[in-house]
Amino acid sequence: PATKLLYKYKQQLTLTPSQITKLDSELQGQIRAGLKAEITTNGLHMLMLPTCVSQIPNGEETGDIYAIDVGGTNFRVKYVRLSAEKSKIESEENFEAPIPKDVMTGTGSALFDFIATRTLNFIMAHEGGQSLEPPLVGFCFSFAIKQLSFNRGILLDWTKGFTCSDVIGHDPVQLLHEAFERAGRQCRVMALLNDTVGVLSAHRYLDQNTCVGIIIGTGTNAAYVEKIGSVKKWSAGPDVDPNAHTIINTEWGAFDSSSLPRCEEDWEVDAATIHKGKYLFEKLLSGMYIGDVARRILLRMARDPSCILFGSKASSDPLIPVALTTKEGFPTSALAKVVEDPGMRPETMARILGVATMSVEACDVVSQVCHLVAERSAQLIALALCAILRHTGWVQNPEGPLTVAFDGGMYEQFAAYRTMIRKAVDEFLGASLGAKITLELVHDGSCVGAAVLAAAATLEHQN
Ligand code: BG6
Ligand code: GLC
Repeated sequence: PATKLLYKYKQQLTLTPSQITKLDSELQGQIRAGLKAEITTNGLHMLMLPTCVSQIPNGEETGDIYAIDVGGTNFRVKYVRLSAEKSKIESEENFEAPIPKDVMTGTGSALFDFIATRTLNFIMAHEGGQSLEPPLVGFCFSFAIKQLSFNRGILLDWTKGFTCSDVIGHDPVQLLHEAFERAGRQCRVMALLNDTVGVLSAHRYLDQNTCVGIIIGTGTNAAYVEKIGSVKKWSAGPDVDPNAHTIINTEWGAFDSSSLPRCEEDWEVDAATIHKGKYLFEKLLSGMYIGDVARRILLRMARDPSCILFGSKASSDPLIPVALTTKEGFPTSALAKVVEDPGMRPETMARILGVATMSVEACDVVSQVCHLVAERSAQLIALALCAILRHTGWVQNPEGPLTVAFDGGMYEQFAAYRTMIRKAVDEFLGASLGAKITLELVHDGSCVGAAVLAAAATLEHQN
């Protein structure tokens, strides 16, 4: 009985060859346009933000750095020692805590006080006293930043669950310095970077073939290595070789197109977010949203009298699991559990949905819906990645192997999803070209990347 609706969703969410062609060309078009001029449209165009990196990490960076990571599920501080011995990264000590919801949506000063006090507590505990020199910090702040220099920038907009007041239009590094001051100690923030730039830099430190960094967790985004001369909207200075390379933060979450495979529930999800109408690509892809897309599809099916997903024909009111009627009742972690276990037993599925029993047929429908939503996400990630690689010319002229560094909860904790991305990349590029691309998971990429870039900036200051 559910087949008709399921068929409709399959039609809407599966990419057709003509959609693939159109999206690929639109993605490349936005990449080109975004490198030329500042994007001022309201959150529907990749921003293509210059990072002010004029020397890509080469593995020779050394230093003792505290890395701060804000913008994913957890706030983190990490001590990273990059030693002269190439490829030696020590990053044992770590502080990690979720940022409370009221801090994410409160005032900017409360957010920066939260960050500064916890960072200083960690530093004090690590130093075992207070050293005379101000500690060196790399600050990974995973939002769209218009970078003014290597360690200065302006927040263009909030995304994900953040709405703190008085931060948009301001420099997060300055706000952090002020918060350090309020907390009684100065630190030197040497680098400000996006998480995608961190992941790319962290892996590039170890593997010079790394050309793209992708985050797929709460949000999604990519950074890639670009020729300085191609970034028309950024003036790197007269001494910089235009053939040298920099890193671009694409903010691909802000991409949008009428060719994207969508269903009504995607618009419902968008309408329920705090950043309605923005970052629409991200809302089809990332962990903060896709469990909710699946939940709404299943709710629609459960309510449809022709479906009878739950309960029996005998009762006039269809039974609706509470998990499906509650916001956040079916998070992406639940979707992942279902997809990871294709033959999931009805008892297990019933437990996830909070119902007493489930039929094998209903189990199968839930499983297919979750699979559909996850696969769309994986295919769009792969498609956008391939568009970047076409734009850089690697696809047309693959001189050597290429590595893509990934981080984020969805990539890390959802093995079947990683396989879907791999499969889609191979499909879009063909098996022999696909075989030249390594997709690599980088643990703690942002923190290590923040440390690498902060170390590079420190060395530059000393020279
Ligand atoms: C982490 C990175 O592992 O992944 C963070 O170090 C990043 O910087 C995060 O923001 C994104 O994933 P999630 O799942 O925490 O949003
Ligand atoms: C959001 C942010 C972006 C970040 C991504 C992943 O899309 O705007 O800067 O990289 O989430 O954390």
